[in-house]
Amino acid sequence: MDSAATRSEWAPDSWRALPADQQPDWPDAAAVDAVTAELKALPPLVFAGEARQLRQALAEVSAGRGFLLHSGDCAESFRDLSAPRIRDNLKIMLQMAIVLTFGAALPVVKLTRAAGQFAKPRSSATEVVDGVELPSFRGHMVNDDAFDPAARTPDPQRMLQAYHQSAARLNLLRAFTKGGYADLRQVHVWNQEFVARSPEGRRYERFARGIDDALTFMAACGIDLDREHQLHEVDLYTSHEGLILPYEEALSRRDSLTGQWYDCSAHLLWIGERTRRPEHAHVEFFAGVQNPLACKFGPGTKPEELVALCERLDPGRDPGRLTLISRLGKDRVEQVLPPLIRAVTAAGFPVVWACDPMHGNGVVTADGIKTRRFDDIMSELTAFFAVCRGEGVWPGGVHLEFTGDDVTECVGGVEPVHECDLGVRYSSLVDPRLNARQSLDVAFQVAELLRPRSGR
Ligand code: PEP
Ligand code: CO
Repeated sequence: MDSAATRSEWAPDSWRALPADQQPDWPDAAAVDAVTAELKALPPLVFAGEARQLRQALAEVSAGRGFLLHSGDCAESFRDLSAPRIRDNLKIMLQMAIVLTFGAALPVVKLTRAAGQFAKPRSSATEVVDGVELPSFRGHMVNDDAFDPAARTPDPQRMLQAYHQSAARLNLLRAFTKGGYADLRQVHVWNQEFVARSPEGRRYERFARGIDDALTFMAACGIDLDREHQLHEVDLYTSHEGLILPYEEALSRRDSLTGQWYDCSAHLLWIGERTRRPEHAHVEFFAGVQNPLACKFGPGTKPEELVALCERLDPGRDPGRLTLISRLGKDRVEQVLPPLIRAVTAAGFPVVWACDPMHGNGVVTADGIKTRRFDDIMSELTAFFAVCRGEGVWPGGVHLEFTGDDVTECVGGVEPVHECDLGVRYSSLVDPRLNARQSLDVAFQVAELLRPRSGR
């Protein structure tokens, strides 16, 4: 049974009758309609069959037979459409995945926040700088980050640009992951120079040599490694926050095989903490598409609210359909998470439980810079694993904001980034991201948490 079939009144535009949170104030509604008409005629970015494949992989995760690595940029930038950037972000994803696969001795589902992560919810609709008030930056799908009136005016043409940028990014990601770059024999190549010089990079290098040895051993045993396609290519799935509903509606397509609707802008879409009200437009739209979905939940979430959300998004209780991403803040996990897990479990929803240790742990320094502390991120993850284990559910995944670049946006880590370094290489458009070294460190520590022997 699926959600679309049970809601006969659902249509790709049925969300329009409901309140839609976090939508830009487009100055010209006719211009929005013209753009969405154009988007509707363009080819889908992903295929329904791929979304079903991801759903199956997530069903395995929900049963404790896999682990989800969900990470990427907070906000992709139209200015960063370059092969080196895409490749460097993929490198750290592959490095982390390999560390986790080995650590957990389980398949790792690789889901990137990329090729569509161009829209941001904001806590305030406007921003004031030196007494000047302008619309907030809402991601390059909507407006530009520069602080001037023309740049900040929402421009629907940007939705078309987001589509074409996503297509170009996805094309390169498909080439890298299926065309040899993600081959296990390339494990050393993924270690970028600034990472390789660091303690985390050296630890990875020892690890990669272990993989070389294992491959050599298998070949010596007579296994024809060339024929094992799992060693040479990777399934990488795309995701973004499904925020700008005219865009998501315009990219939904009816699958010719099953007759069901899919949002073909990405394999998985997530609903953010600010747009998850069960009776509002985002939940209505996503309830009717058959993609695997995720939903974030913050510290104010009530058990009955979360159950109502599951009921709307996954009434059929289908494993793999829904991932719940906890983003509570390190000090709230132990108190807030157990009743939520109990309520969802008692109501019979086979969700994947994942932890976003980034969005509940933002701090602002004395100099007014937004950052996150590495130790807070690790504390939230550690608490999440302990609570899941205590409640008898599988800690199924992590959701991180990272970049392959050598940025100084989050403080701490081995050879730490200090508060005074934050201004040096800070390029995030919105939230501070882990750099490649810090991300690798998280992967090693999560692998420890996952190891059954650790007793945690
Ligand atoms: C995000 O993932 O960038 C985000 C805005 O998250 P949340 O909805 O959890 O605040
Ligand atoms: Co963010």
